[in-house]
Amino acid sequence: MSFHDIVPKHIQAIASYKSENPAEEVERELGVKVVQLGMNENPFGPSPRAVEAVRQYLQKIAPYPDDSGFHLRQKLAASLKISMDEIIISSGSSDILAMAYQALRSADTEVLTGEASFVVYYQLAEITGMPIVRVPMKDYGFDLEAMAERITPKTRLIILANPNNPTGTIVRQRELDRFMKKVPDHALVILDEAYIEYVNDPEYPESLTYMRAGKSVLILRTFSKAYGLAGLRIGYGISNREVIDTLYKVRMAFNTSSVAQVAALAAWDDHEHVEKSVTMNRSELEFIYRELSERGVKYVPSYANFLLVDLGRPGREVSSALLQQGVIVRPAWGCPNAMRVSVGTREQNEKFLAALEKVL
Ligand SMILES: Cc1ncc(COP(=O)(O)O)c(C=O)c1O
Repeated sequence: MSFHDIVPKHIQAIASYKSENPAEEVERELGVKVVQLGMNENPFGPSPRAVEAVRQYLQKIAPYPDDSGFHLRQKLAASLKISMDEIIISSGSSDILAMAYQALRSADTEVLTGEASFVVYYQLAEITGMPIVRVPMKDYGFDLEAMAERITPKTRLIILANPNNPTGTIVRQRELDRFMKKVPDHALVILDEAYIEYVNDPEYPESLTYMRAGKSVLILRTFSKAYGLAGLRIGYGISNREVIDTLYKVRMAFNTSSVAQVAALAAWDDHEHVEKSVTMNRSELEFIYRELSERGVKYVPSYANFLLVDLGRPGREVSSALLQQGVIVRPAWGCPNAMRVSVGTREQNEKFLAALEKVL
């Protein structure tokens, strides 16, 4: 018997997911300076207040972190006007996605989401062996009417990224209200709001109202994007006590570091940095729209810090060609003829546009 034989079939079937080499390694291989626009990070850097707080904290890293994330939960709860027991902190918000799958998987349960959304939703379905129903998108956004029709007695998780990655679209309050009325009690709706800070639309849903109304929702947020702390891995989830208590049962102990907690506490108060990041992102998005339009390249207007560029030819091909030019972008998950490009600084965006012109 080989090791392979003892691995369950659903794990054997997973196409091994290895992350790509870091940008410095790609630079070394290609011999060109690389622009990283593939990870939806904050190109304007981390919150300076967080950096300072971490610097001061580094002498204290010998003990384990506060496993309850007491101070961070306290701060978030006070700001959001909810109870501390309605928050769980995590190693990035993906960590909570993993907990939710882990907690709700059992024989005969399903996950429901859109055809083109965050890759981790599909990976977790493969890892846990939970069947995932992928409903085709409508105009690059979630088709909530079609999704409601695909809810079955087996549905346990319904996941909506809002804004959605990789399409950058949002679901608005009215359509979400209509959808939530159709969701039965046996399904938990995950509203993944990783990019919420970037949204500038008056009809963007106030997701906490669903929770206050007693609906079964889990809201995910992160310090990885507008706060610029992706390297520290810290995010949080908001839900009712029952859901949060259940997530705690499957959570890995000490899943967030003390340094990440300290950084998040400082970053949360750094409104200036978030404001600056969001404003710069918006003006750079406008710049990219103008430049792409002039070149006759189709894109989807975005509510986040990235955008979907519809190429009419395989996104994988164009992404590889751009890489040869020293620009890292991503083929768009679920949209074979598109790629996802993170919004960078003006200099990075210009490099992307120049490389794209060469490639197309
Ligand atoms: C929609 C969405 N949700 C969640 C995440 C995960 O972010 P993190 O685990 O860094 O908090 C990402 C990251 O790209 C994302 O695009």
